[in-house]
Amino acid sequence: MRPGIYAVSSPQEGQQLSALGHQLFFEPALSASGKQSCASCHSPEHAYGPPDSRSVQFGGIDGKQMGSRAVPSLRYLQTVPPFSEHFRDNDGNDSEDAGPTGGFTWDGRAASTHEQARIPLLAANEMANDSSDQVIRQLQASASANAFMAVFGKDIFQRPAQAFDKLVLALEVFQQNPADFYPYSSKYDDWLRGKAELSHQELRGLQVFNSPDKGNCAACHLSERQSDGAFPAFSDFGLIALGVPRNPQLALNHQPEYHDLGLCGPLRQDMRKAEYCGLFRTPSLRNVATRKVFFHNGVLHDLRQVLEFYASRDTQPEKWYPVASNGQPVMFDDLPTVYHGNINREAPFGGKKGAPPALNAQEISDLLAFLGTLTDADAHPARNGQ
Ligand code: HEC
Ligand code: HEC
Repeated sequence: MRPGIYAVSSPQEGQQLSALGHQLFFEPALSASGKQSCASCHSPEHAYGPPDSRSVQFGGIDGKQMGSRAVPSLRYLQTVPPFSEHFRDNDGNDSEDAGPTGGFTWDGRAASTHEQARIPLLAANEMANDSSDQVIRQLQASASANAFMAVFGKDIFQRPAQAFDKLVLALEVFQQNPADFYPYSSKYDDWLRGKAELSHQELRGLQVFNSPDKGNCAACHLSERQSDGAFPAFSDFGLIALGVPRNPQLALNHQPEYHDLGLCGPLRQDMRKAEYCGLFRTPSLRNVATRKVFFHNGVLHDLRQVLEFYASRDTQPEKWYPVASNGQPVMFDDLPTVYHGNINREAPFGGKKGAPPALNAQEISDLLAFLGTLTDADAHPARNGQ
Protein backbone atom coordinates (compact mmCIF):
# COMPACT_ATOMS: atom_id res chain seq x y z
CA MET A 1 0.00 0.00 0.00
CA ARG A 2 1.41 3.40 -0.90
CA PRO A 3 1.53 6.07 1.78
CA GLY A 4 -1.48 8.33 1.78
CA ILE A 5 -3.84 5.57 0.69
CA TYR A 6 -6.17 4.36 3.39
CA ALA A 7 -6.18 0.57 3.78
CA VAL A 8 -9.60 -0.71 4.81
CA SER A 9 -9.54 -3.60 7.27
CA SER A 10 -12.16 -5.74 5.52
CA PRO A 11 -14.18 -5.78 2.28
CA GLN A 12 -17.32 -5.04 4.32
CA GLU A 13 -15.74 -1.97 5.86
CA GLY A 14 -14.62 -0.89 2.41
CA GLN A 15 -18.10 -1.25 0.93
CA GLN A 16 -19.74 0.55 3.82
CA LEU A 17 -17.31 3.47 3.70
CA SER A 18 -17.48 3.67 -0.07
CA ALA A 19 -21.29 3.79 -0.11
CA LEU A 20 -21.27 6.49 2.54
CA GLY A 21 -18.52 8.39 0.69
CA HIS A 22 -20.62 8.19 -2.48
CA GLN A 23 -23.57 9.76 -0.68
CA LEU A 24 -21.38 12.47 0.85
CA PHE A 25 -19.79 13.27 -2.52
CA PHE A 26 -23.25 14.44 -3.65
CA GLU A 27 -24.19 16.12 -0.33
CA PRO A 28 -24.67 19.91 -0.81
CA ALA A 29 -24.98 20.41 2.97
CA LEU A 30 -21.19 20.10 3.10
CA SER A 31 -20.90 23.60 1.63
CA ALA A 32 -21.57 26.88 3.44
CA SER A 33 -24.06 27.87 0.72
CA GLY A 34 -25.87 24.54 1.15
CA LYS A 35 -25.88 24.30 -2.64
CA GLN A 36 -22.52 22.90 -3.69
CA SER A 37 -21.30 19.33 -3.41
CA CYS A 38 -18.08 17.76 -4.64
CA ALA A 39 -20.10 16.57 -7.66
CA SER A 40 -21.00 20.16 -8.61
CA CYS A 41 -17.43 20.66 -9.81
CA HIS A 42 -16.37 17.03 -10.36
CA SER A 43 -19.27 15.90 -12.55
CA PRO A 44 -19.75 12.12 -12.65
CA GLU A 45 -21.17 12.40 -16.19
CA HIS A 46 -17.91 14.04 -17.26
CA ALA A 47 -15.48 11.52 -15.82
CA TYR A 48 -15.53 13.54 -12.56
CA GLY A 49 -14.21 16.58 -14.41
CA PRO A 50 -15.83 20.00 -14.90
CA PRO A 51 -19.54 20.01 -15.83
CA ASP A 52 -19.25 22.73 -18.48
CA SER A 53 -16.85 24.87 -20.51
CA ARG A 54 -16.19 27.60 -17.96
CA SER A 55 -12.44 28.05 -17.37
CA VAL A 56 -12.94 27.62 -13.62
CA GLN A 57 -15.93 26.94 -11.42
CA PHE A 58 -17.56 29.26 -8.91
CA GLY A 59 -18.14 28.67 -5.20
CA GLY A 60 -18.25 30.53 -1.91
CA ILE A 61 -21.11 31.38 0.43
CA ASP A 62 -22.95 33.21 -2.36
CA GLY A 63 -21.83 30.84 -5.12
CA LYS A 64 -20.20 33.80 -6.90
CA GLN A 65 -16.54 33.46 -5.95
CA MET A 66 -14.41 32.54 -8.91
CA GLY A 67 -11.91 29.72 -8.67
CA SER A 68 -8.38 30.11 -9.99
CA ARG A 69 -7.76 26.71 -11.56
CA ALA A 70 -9.53 24.36 -13.94
CA VAL A 71 -11.22 21.39 -12.30
CA PRO A 72 -9.23 18.20 -12.88
CA SER A 73 -10.88 14.84 -13.53
CA LEU A 74 -10.77 12.62 -10.44
CA ARG A 75 -10.30 9.50 -12.55
CA TYR A 76 -7.04 7.53 -12.71
CA LEU A 77 -5.44 9.25 -9.74
CA GLN A 78 -4.85 5.98 -7.91
CA THR A 79 -1.30 5.73 -9.25
CA VAL A 80 -0.24 9.31 -8.49
CA PRO A 81 2.97 8.86 -6.50
CA PRO A 82 3.55 10.89 -3.32
CA PHE A 83 5.15 14.24 -4.16
CA SER A 84 8.91 14.03 -4.50
CA GLU A 85 11.46 16.57 -5.72
CA HIS A 86 13.69 13.82 -7.04
CA PHE A 87 11.44 11.12 -8.39
CA ARG A 88 13.05 7.86 -9.46
CA ASP A 89 11.01 5.46 -11.50
CA ASN A 90 11.47 1.85 -10.42
CA ASP A 91 9.74 0.62 -13.54
CA GLY A 92 12.33 -0.89 -15.88
CA ASN A 93 16.00 0.02 -15.58
CA ASP A 94 16.07 3.79 -15.46
CA SER A 95 16.69 5.22 -12.07
CA GLU A 96 17.26 8.69 -13.48
CA ASP A 97 16.17 11.63 -11.36
CA ALA A 98 12.95 12.69 -13.10
CA GLY A 99 12.65 15.84 -10.99
CA PRO A 100 9.53 17.04 -9.15
CA THR A 101 6.72 14.52 -9.55
CA GLY A 102 3.44 13.53 -7.96
CA GLY A 103 1.17 14.74 -5.19
CA PHE A 104 -2.44 15.83 -5.64
CA THR A 105 -3.73 19.04 -7.27
CA TRP A 106 -2.09 20.88 -10.16
CA ASP A 107 0.91 21.75 -7.97
CA GLY A 108 1.20 18.47 -6.06
CA ARG A 109 0.64 20.11 -2.68
CA ALA A 110 -1.82 17.60 -1.20
CA ALA A 111 -0.31 14.33 -0.03
CA SER A 112 -3.48 12.22 -0.28
CA THR A 113 -7.07 12.48 -1.45
CA HIS A 114 -8.25 12.79 2.15
CA GLU A 115 -5.87 15.70 2.74
CA GLN A 116 -7.09 17.07 -0.58
CA ALA A 117 -10.76 16.96 0.47
CA ARG A 118 -10.03 19.43 3.28
CA ILE A 119 -9.03 22.04 0.70
CA PRO A 120 -12.41 22.51 -1.11
CA LEU A 121 -14.39 22.08 2.11
CA LEU A 122 -12.61 25.03 3.71
CA ALA A 123 -11.54 27.21 0.72
CA ALA A 124 -13.38 30.56 0.58
CA ASN A 125 -13.98 30.28 -3.17
CA GLU A 126 -15.11 26.66 -3.04
CA MET A 127 -17.31 25.10 -0.36
CA ALA A 128 -16.41 28.01 1.91
CA ASN A 129 -16.88 26.61 5.41
CA ASP A 130 -15.22 28.59 8.22
CA SER A 131 -14.04 25.52 10.08
CA SER A 132 -14.22 21.76 10.15
CA ASP A 133 -16.69 22.12 13.05
CA GLN A 134 -19.03 24.06 10.77
CA VAL A 135 -18.90 21.28 8.18
CA ILE A 136 -19.83 18.76 10.85
CA ARG A 137 -22.70 20.87 12.23
CA GLN A 138 -24.14 21.06 8.71
CA LEU A 139 -23.63 17.37 8.13
CA GLN A 140 -25.42 16.65 11.42
CA ALA A 141 -28.43 18.67 10.23
CA SER A 142 -28.43 17.10 6.75
CA ALA A 143 -30.18 14.18 5.13
CA SER A 144 -26.89 12.24 5.33
CA ALA A 145 -26.65 12.42 9.14
CA ASN A 146 -28.29 9.03 9.76
CA ALA A 147 -26.12 7.24 7.24
CA PHE A 148 -23.06 8.83 8.83
CA MET A 149 -24.07 7.73 12.35
CA ALA A 150 -24.90 4.26 11.09
CA VAL A 151 -21.26 3.82 10.05
CA PHE A 152 -19.40 5.75 12.77
CA GLY A 153 -21.71 5.49 15.79
CA LYS A 154 -24.63 7.46 17.21
CA ASP A 155 -22.36 9.72 19.25
CA ILE A 156 -19.92 10.58 16.44
CA PHE A 157 -21.22 14.17 16.13
CA GLN A 158 -20.22 14.82 19.75
CA ARG A 159 -16.59 14.54 18.61
CA PRO A 160 -16.46 16.99 15.67
CA ALA A 161 -12.72 16.65 15.02
CA GLN A 162 -13.01 12.89 14.71
CA ALA A 163 -16.19 13.23 12.66
CA PHE A 164 -14.35 15.47 10.20
CA ASP A 165 -11.55 12.92 9.84
CA LYS A 166 -14.16 10.23 9.16
CA LEU A 167 -15.90 12.41 6.60
CA VAL A 168 -12.74 12.90 4.53
CA LEU A 169 -11.90 9.23 4.99
CA ALA A 170 -15.26 8.14 3.54
CA LEU A 171 -14.78 10.51 0.59
CA GLU A 172 -11.33 9.06 0.02
CA VAL A 173 -12.50 5.46 0.11
CA PHE A 174 -15.27 6.29 -2.39
CA GLN A 175 -12.60 7.74 -4.68
CA GLN A 176 -10.79 4.41 -4.59
CA ASN A 177 -13.78 2.59 -6.06
CA PRO A 178 -12.57 1.05 -9.35
CA ALA A 179 -15.93 1.11 -11.20
CA ASP A 180 -16.26 4.86 -10.63
CA PHE A 181 -12.66 6.04 -10.66
CA TYR A 182 -10.57 3.65 -12.72
CA PRO A 183 -12.83 1.57 -14.91
CA TYR A 184 -10.30 1.11 -17.77
CA SER A 185 -13.28 0.78 -20.10
CA SER A 186 -12.02 2.85 -23.04
CA LYS A 187 -11.56 1.56 -26.56
CA TYR A 188 -7.80 1.89 -26.07
CA ASP A 189 -7.96 -0.40 -23.01
CA ASP A 190 -9.94 -2.91 -25.05
CA TRP A 191 -7.30 -2.64 -27.76
CA LEU A 192 -4.57 -3.34 -25.19
CA ARG A 193 -6.59 -6.38 -24.12
CA GLY A 194 -6.77 -7.52 -27.75
CA LYS A 195 -10.54 -7.08 -27.74
CA ALA A 196 -10.96 -4.08 -30.02
CA GLU A 197 -9.32 -2.71 -33.13
CA LEU A 198 -8.22 0.85 -33.62
CA SER A 199 -9.07 2.47 -36.97
CA HIS A 200 -6.27 3.40 -39.36
CA GLN A 201 -6.61 7.01 -38.32
CA GLU A 202 -6.51 6.18 -34.60
CA LEU A 203 -3.40 4.07 -35.16
CA ARG A 204 -1.72 6.90 -37.07
CA GLY A 205 -2.61 9.20 -34.17
CA LEU A 206 -1.08 6.76 -31.70
CA GLN A 207 2.10 6.77 -33.75
CA VAL A 208 2.30 10.56 -33.76
CA PHE A 209 1.61 10.47 -30.01
CA ASN A 210 4.45 8.04 -29.35
CA SER A 211 7.13 9.22 -31.85
CA PRO A 212 9.87 11.13 -30.02
CA ASP A 213 10.48 13.34 -33.07
CA LYS A 214 6.78 14.03 -33.75
CA GLY A 215 4.24 14.56 -30.97
CA ASN A 216 6.54 13.12 -28.32
CA CYS A 217 3.43 13.14 -26.14
CA ALA A 218 4.19 9.77 -24.57
CA ALA A 219 7.39 11.19 -23.05
CA CYS A 220 5.13 12.71 -20.39
CA HIS A 221 1.68 11.21 -21.05
CA LEU A 222 2.71 7.52 -20.79
CA SER A 223 0.82 5.37 -23.27
CA GLU A 224 2.22 1.87 -22.82
CA ARG A 225 1.65 -0.84 -20.29
CA GLN A 226 4.09 -0.77 -17.41
CA SER A 227 6.52 -3.66 -16.92
CA ASP A 228 4.18 -5.06 -14.24
CA GLY A 229 1.34 -5.14 -16.79
CA ALA A 230 -0.47 -2.11 -15.32
CA PHE A 231 -2.41 -0.10 -17.87
CA PRO A 232 -1.01 3.36 -18.63
CA ALA A 233 -2.32 6.44 -16.77
CA PHE A 234 -1.39 8.73 -19.70
CA SER A 235 0.69 10.77 -17.30
CA ASP A 236 4.01 10.31 -15.55
CA PHE A 237 2.70 12.90 -13.04
CA GLY A 238 5.84 15.00 -13.50
CA LEU A 239 5.67 18.74 -12.87
CA ILE A 240 6.59 20.65 -16.02
CA ALA A 241 6.36 24.24 -17.29
CA LEU A 242 4.65 24.52 -20.68
CA GLY A 243 4.27 28.31 -20.58
CA VAL A 244 0.56 28.25 -21.37
CA PRO A 245 -0.98 31.67 -22.12
CA ARG A 246 -2.37 33.80 -19.30
CA ASN A 247 -6.15 33.53 -18.98
CA PRO A 248 -7.59 37.06 -18.87
CA GLN A 249 -10.96 35.66 -17.79
CA LEU A 250 -9.75 34.76 -14.31
CA ALA A 251 -10.65 37.36 -11.68
CA LEU A 252 -7.24 37.03 -10.00
CA ASN A 253 -5.53 37.80 -13.29
CA HIS A 254 -7.09 41.27 -13.32
CA GLN A 255 -4.23 42.09 -10.96
CA PRO A 256 -1.22 42.33 -13.30
CA GLU A 257 1.19 41.37 -10.50
CA TYR A 258 -0.65 38.11 -9.72
CA HIS A 259 0.84 34.96 -11.19
CA ASP A 260 -0.14 31.38 -10.48
CA LEU A 261 3.36 29.89 -10.47
CA GLY A 262 2.28 26.35 -9.61
CA LEU A 263 4.92 24.42 -7.70
CA CYS A 264 6.68 27.58 -6.38
CA GLY A 265 3.46 29.25 -5.17
CA PRO A 266 1.44 31.15 -4.17
CA LEU A 267 -1.10 28.37 -3.42
CA ARG A 268 1.70 26.01 -2.56
CA GLN A 269 4.01 27.41 0.10
CA ASP A 270 6.77 24.88 0.74
CA MET A 271 8.73 24.85 -2.55
CA ARG A 272 9.69 28.45 -3.13
CA LYS A 273 12.58 27.83 -5.49
CA ALA A 274 13.04 29.84 -8.69
CA GLU A 275 13.55 26.72 -10.80
CA TYR A 276 10.09 25.47 -9.76
CA CYS A 277 8.14 28.52 -10.90
CA GLY A 278 5.63 27.76 -13.65
CA LEU A 279 5.62 23.99 -13.11
CA PHE A 280 2.29 22.12 -13.02
CA ARG A 281 1.58 18.41 -12.72
CA THR A 282 1.07 16.61 -16.02
CA PRO A 283 -2.61 15.59 -16.18
CA SER A 284 -3.81 12.19 -17.33
CA LEU A 285 -5.25 12.31 -20.85
CA ARG A 286 -7.81 9.63 -20.15
CA ASN A 287 -11.27 11.07 -20.90
CA VAL A 288 -9.65 14.26 -22.17
CA ALA A 289 -12.00 14.30 -25.19
CA THR A 290 -14.92 14.80 -22.78
CA ARG A 291 -13.43 18.05 -21.42
CA LYS A 292 -14.20 21.54 -22.64
CA VAL A 293 -11.56 23.28 -20.57
CA PHE A 294 -7.83 22.67 -20.72
CA PHE A 295 -4.63 23.47 -18.84
CA HIS A 296 -4.31 24.52 -15.19
CA ASN A 297 -5.83 27.94 -15.83
CA GLY A 298 -8.53 26.73 -18.21
CA VAL A 299 -7.32 29.09 -20.93
CA LEU A 300 -8.23 26.82 -23.87
CA HIS A 301 -11.64 25.29 -24.58
CA ASP A 302 -11.15 23.12 -27.59
CA LEU A 303 -8.98 20.02 -27.78
CA ARG A 304 -7.85 20.73 -31.33
CA GLN A 305 -6.60 24.11 -30.14
CA VAL A 306 -4.59 22.43 -27.40
CA LEU A 307 -2.89 20.26 -30.00
CA GLU A 308 -2.27 23.29 -32.20
CA PHE A 309 -0.68 25.01 -29.21
CA TYR A 310 1.77 22.12 -28.85
CA ALA A 311 2.46 22.22 -32.59
CA SER A 312 3.04 25.96 -32.91
CA ARG A 313 3.79 27.51 -29.49
CA ASP A 314 7.32 28.35 -30.61
CA THR A 315 6.86 28.59 -34.40
CA GLN A 316 3.79 30.87 -34.38
CA PRO A 317 3.73 32.48 -30.94
CA GLU A 318 1.59 35.35 -32.26
CA LYS A 319 -1.30 32.83 -32.42
CA TRP A 320 -1.12 32.25 -28.67
CA TYR A 321 0.25 35.29 -26.91
CA PRO A 322 -0.70 38.98 -26.95
CA VAL A 323 1.22 41.09 -29.44
CA ALA A 324 3.07 44.12 -28.01
CA SER A 325 3.07 47.59 -29.59
CA ASN A 326 6.37 46.78 -31.34
CA GLY A 327 4.57 43.96 -33.16
CA GLN A 328 6.34 41.21 -31.20
CA PRO A 329 4.36 38.51 -29.40
CA VAL A 330 4.82 38.53 -25.61
CA MET A 331 5.72 34.86 -25.21
CA PHE A 332 4.91 33.01 -21.98
CA ASP A 333 2.90 36.00 -20.76
CA ASP A 334 1.74 34.19 -17.60
CA LEU A 335 5.26 33.71 -16.26
CA PRO A 336 7.65 36.52 -15.22
CA THR A 337 10.64 36.69 -17.58
CA VAL A 338 13.13 35.56 -14.90
CA TYR A 339 11.51 32.12 -14.95
CA HIS A 340 11.38 31.60 -18.73
CA GLY A 341 14.39 29.28 -18.51
CA ASN A 342 12.11 26.76 -16.75
CA ILE A 343 9.95 26.28 -19.83
CA ASN A 344 10.11 22.93 -21.58
CA ARG A 345 11.55 23.14 -25.09
CA GLU A 346 11.69 19.50 -26.10
CA ALA A 347 9.68 18.09 -29.04
CA PRO A 348 7.06 18.96 -30.12
CA PHE A 349 8.25 22.37 -28.89
CA GLY A 350 11.48 24.08 -29.81
CA GLY A 351 10.97 25.02 -33.48
CA LYS A 352 12.24 28.36 -34.77
CA LYS A 353 9.82 31.25 -35.13
CA GLY A 354 8.35 31.20 -38.63
CA ALA A 355 9.29 27.54 -39.23
CA PRO A 356 6.48 25.08 -40.08
CA PRO A 357 4.57 23.82 -37.02
CA ALA A 358 5.78 20.54 -35.49
CA LEU A 359 2.53 18.80 -36.50
CA ASN A 360 0.50 19.35 -39.67
CA ALA A 361 -3.31 19.50 -39.86
CA GLN A 362 -3.58 15.81 -40.76
CA GLU A 363 -1.38 14.76 -37.85
CA ILE A 364 -3.47 16.87 -35.52
CA SER A 365 -6.68 15.25 -36.78
CA ASP A 366 -5.09 11.83 -36.30
CA LEU A 367 -4.05 12.73 -32.75
CA LEU A 368 -7.59 13.90 -32.01
CA ALA A 369 -8.98 10.61 -33.28
CA PHE A 370 -6.55 8.74 -31.08
CA LEU A 371 -7.35 10.80 -27.98
CA GLY A 372 -11.01 9.92 -28.54
CA THR A 373 -10.12 6.27 -27.87
CA LEU A 374 -9.22 7.19 -24.27
CA THR A 375 -12.83 7.93 -23.29
CA ASP A 376 -14.33 5.48 -20.81
CA ALA A 377 -17.51 3.67 -21.86
CA ASP A 378 -19.73 5.59 -19.44
CA ALA A 379 -18.28 9.00 -20.36
CA HIS A 380 -19.27 8.89 -24.03
CA PRO A 381 -22.59 10.80 -23.84
CA ALA A 382 -20.63 13.89 -22.77
CA ARG A 383 -18.21 13.71 -25.67
CA ASN A 384 -17.00 16.84 -27.25
CA GLY A 385 -18.55 16.24 -30.64
CA GLN A 386 -15.44 14.43 -31.87
C1 HEC B 1 -15.75 24.79 -6.51
C2 HEC B 1 -15.32 23.62 -7.27
C3 HEC B 1 -14.82 22.40 -6.50
C4 HEC B 1 -15.47 21.71 -5.51
C5 HEC B 1 -16.81 21.99 -4.89
C6 HEC B 1 -14.61 20.58 -5.19
N1 HEC B 1 -13.47 20.61 -5.97
FE1 HEC B 1 -12.00 19.22 -5.99
N2 HEC B 1 -10.89 20.39 -7.20
C7 HEC B 1 -11.30 21.60 -7.72
C8 HEC B 1 -10.17 22.27 -8.33
C9 HEC B 1 -10.19 23.62 -9.02
C10 HEC B 1 -9.05 21.42 -8.15
C11 HEC B 1 -7.60 21.73 -8.52
C12 HEC B 1 -7.04 22.47 -7.31
C13 HEC B 1 -5.61 22.94 -7.40
O1 HEC B 1 -4.87 22.54 -8.29
O2 HEC B 1 -5.22 23.73 -6.53
C14 HEC B 1 -9.56 20.25 -7.44
C15 HEC B 1 -8.76 19.15 -7.10
C16 HEC B 1 -9.24 18.01 -6.48
C17 HEC B 1 -8.48 16.79 -6.26
C18 HEC B 1 -7.05 16.54 -6.72
C19 HEC B 1 -7.08 16.02 -8.12
C20 HEC B 1 -5.70 15.83 -8.72
O3 HEC B 1 -5.62 15.76 -9.95
O4 HEC B 1 -4.71 15.77 -7.99
C21 HEC B 1 -9.29 15.92 -5.57
C22 HEC B 1 -8.93 14.52 -5.13
C23 HEC B 1 -10.54 16.62 -5.33
N3 HEC B 1 -10.48 17.87 -5.92
C24 HEC B 1 -11.60 16.09 -4.62
C25 HEC B 1 -12.70 16.85 -4.21
C26 HEC B 1 -13.66 16.42 -3.21
C27 HEC B 1 -13.64 15.09 -2.48
C28 HEC B 1 -14.58 17.42 -3.09
C29 HEC B 1 -15.75 17.52 -2.09
C30 HEC B 1 -15.36 17.51 -0.69
C31 HEC B 1 -14.19 18.47 -4.03
N4 HEC B 1 -13.04 18.09 -4.67
C32 HEC B 1 -14.91 19.64 -4.22
C33 HEC B 1 -12.58 22.12 -7.66
C34 HEC B 1 -13.55 21.71 -6.77
C1 HEC C 1 7.27 17.57 -21.42
C2 HEC C 1 6.05 16.91 -20.95
C3 HEC C 1 4.84 16.94 -21.88
C4 HEC C 1 4.78 16.60 -23.21
C5 HEC C 1 5.91 16.16 -24.14
C6 HEC C 1 3.40 16.72 -23.59
N1 HEC C 1 2.66 17.15 -22.53
FE1 HEC C 1 0.66 17.48 -22.51
N2 HEC C 1 0.79 18.29 -20.66
C7 HEC C 1 1.93 18.36 -19.90
C8 HEC C 1 1.71 19.24 -18.77
C9 HEC C 1 2.72 19.58 -17.68
C10 HEC C 1 0.39 19.70 -18.88
C11 HEC C 1 -0.31 20.72 -17.95
C12 HEC C 1 0.27 22.09 -18.22
C13 HEC C 1 -0.45 23.24 -17.55
O1 HEC C 1 -1.66 23.16 -17.35
O2 HEC C 1 0.23 24.25 -17.24
C14 HEC C 1 -0.17 19.07 -20.07
C15 HEC C 1 -1.48 19.21 -20.49
C16 HEC C 1 -2.02 18.60 -21.62
C17 HEC C 1 -3.41 18.66 -22.01
C18 HEC C 1 -4.53 19.37 -21.25
C19 HEC C 1 -5.25 18.36 -20.36
C20 HEC C 1 -6.15 18.96 -19.33
O3 HEC C 1 -6.80 18.18 -18.61
O4 HEC C 1 -6.20 20.19 -19.17
C21 HEC C 1 -3.54 17.93 -23.17
C22 HEC C 1 -4.81 17.68 -23.97
C23 HEC C 1 -2.22 17.43 -23.50
N3 HEC C 1 -1.33 17.84 -22.54
C24 HEC C 1 -1.94 16.65 -24.59
C25 HEC C 1 -0.64 16.43 -25.05
C26 HEC C 1 -0.32 15.92 -26.36
C27 HEC C 1 -1.35 15.47 -27.39
C28 HEC C 1 1.04 15.91 -26.46
C29 HEC C 1 1.86 15.59 -27.66
C30 HEC C 1 1.60 16.44 -28.83
C31 HEC C 1 1.56 16.37 -25.18
N4 HEC C 1 0.52 16.68 -24.36
C32 HEC C 1 2.92 16.45 -24.86
C33 HEC C 1 3.13 17.74 -20.20
C34 HEC C 1 3.50 17.30 -21.46
